[in-house]
Amino acid sequence: MNRLHAPLFEALVRHYETGPVSFHVPGHRFGQIDEEGQSIEKNWLSTIMKLDVTELSSTDDLHHPETFIAEAQKLAARCFGAEETYFLVGGSTSGNLALILGVCEPGDLIIVQRNVHKSVINGLRLAGARAVFLMPRIDDETGLATQPSLEDIEQALELYPEAKAVMLTNPNYYGMTTNLTSCAELVHRFNKLLLVDEAHGAHYGLHPSFPQSAIQAGADAAVQSTHKTLSALTMGAMLHVQGERIPRDSIREVLAAIQSSSPSFPIMASLDIARVMVDRYKSDWFQPGVATAQAFREWIEDADGALKVLRAGHKTEAYDKLDPLRIVLWDRTGTITGFELQKKLEGYGCWAEMADTRHVVLVWGSRTTDDDRFKLQDACAHIEQWIMSQPAKSGATKVSDGFYPGNGTPSQLKPVEFSRKKKEHHRIPLTDAEGCESAEMVIPYPPGIPVIYPGETLTNEMIGCISTLAATGAKFQGAVDNTMRTIAVYSR
Ligand SMILES: Cc1ncc(COP(=O)(O)O)c(C=O)c1O
Repeated sequence: MNRLHAPLFEALVRHYETGPVSFHVPGHRFGQIDEEGQSIEKNWLSTIMKLDVTELSSTDDLHHPETFIAEAQKLAARCFGAEETYFLVGGSTSGNLALILGVCEPGDLIIVQRNVHKSVINGLRLAGARAVFLMPRIDDETGLATQPSLEDIEQALELYPEAKAVMLTNPNYYGMTTNLTSCAELVHRFNKLLLVDEAHGAHYGLHPSFPQSAIQAGADAAVQSTHKTLSALTMGAMLHVQGERIPRDSIREVLAAIQSSSPSFPIMASLDIARVMVDRYKSDWFQPGVATAQAFREWIEDADGALKVLRAGHKTEAYDKLDPLRIVLWDRTGTITGFELQKKLEGYGCWAEMADTRHVVLVWGSRTTDDDRFKLQDACAHIEQWIMSQPAKSGATKVSDGFYPGNGTPSQLKPVEFSRKKKEHHRIPLTDAEGCESAEMVIPYPPGIPVIYPGETLTNEMIGCISTLAATGAKFQGAVDNTMRTIAVYSR
């Protein structure tokens, strides 16, 4: 297999260049929109539409790959160190759903960390699974939640020999990463599956400064959002598997059920292209981004002003390594929240990935340039000046440190039953909801980690967290009342 070509992308180009007469979907027929003029729509869309075809003998079929998609997936598996790779056109969301539905039948038990993306909770609900939730470790410096400890995982495995798998999220949204080698050994000692939501780590293992990937660490399956940190189009993701334990047929069957029967060829071709860039340039592909991210960190540290970043290579009890391409920035004087800092950066044309009550997360691309860095530094310098001109504050505690699911609570180790069954519920003021079972998911987005899921009991901390997030400008998904003044709870 020639690793330096992109078989699917090239097949699509070849097909278009034969001047095919289309008597098939999609209806735009290689971009035949606005034939008369050079409209803005045509200018923007027609190039991509040339690659947007359907399952033909010259293109292949994602749900029964035999030629170009099969080869592109094999090349991806080789590049990312897996035995088999499935292209996903519905993001890591579809990969997480496929893993849970592929591994769990109704009533099956799975050990999961509590601070997971909503797709994992939705997977549990769709599967009708039971989950034993493990609480994450909390980083002292930032108050951010990472992964559960090995001891907690071992205790859950001992208590629940019937568990089908352990599912972890690594890295977290802030780039905090745990080396999973010991975890994979532990989970395999119990003859269970280790499934990893590695949505933010598609680039892991591909540059000497990056953490090891989940597959390299020995996980049975890992889901990666190729669109997040490599160069695929949005929704382009991959599910990598290895070893004998993982039920591949069952996962394939679920993927065919939950993904469109008309998966996007441009998205699949972009996965092929994201992979070939790595095979072609190897770690050099990431070098510009790694260098400029490091330079930015040094600039902030040398300036020693109001803004602070997490140090790359930093290691705490809560995680082993920080993704060099993820910058977590905050105002150490506590004058402005993360949401306000994000807004101020936008005022200077710098758009961050996400914010919380305290931090801003900047996703550094593999090709982020010095020009990009200088613009960001300029913005930071102006924002620092503004912060210093504000009345003195007495430290970072001025701004709420926020709540992260599992913050401070020990693991319950009691299975939670998930189902899609609706129960009687009513709406009450959030402030009166302590001790009630929530009837809805409340999901600050991003990061998309539910603060509460249906059936979970609302604590004072959760109510405080939701109120603080709402007051400081967080956006929510899942809840009917976006202001978060009220919440739906199950009627007793
Ligand atoms: C940890 C985690 N898992 C899964 C997802 C879902 O990824 P996608 O947007 O590719 O569906 C996200 C999205 O942000 C995420 O943060």
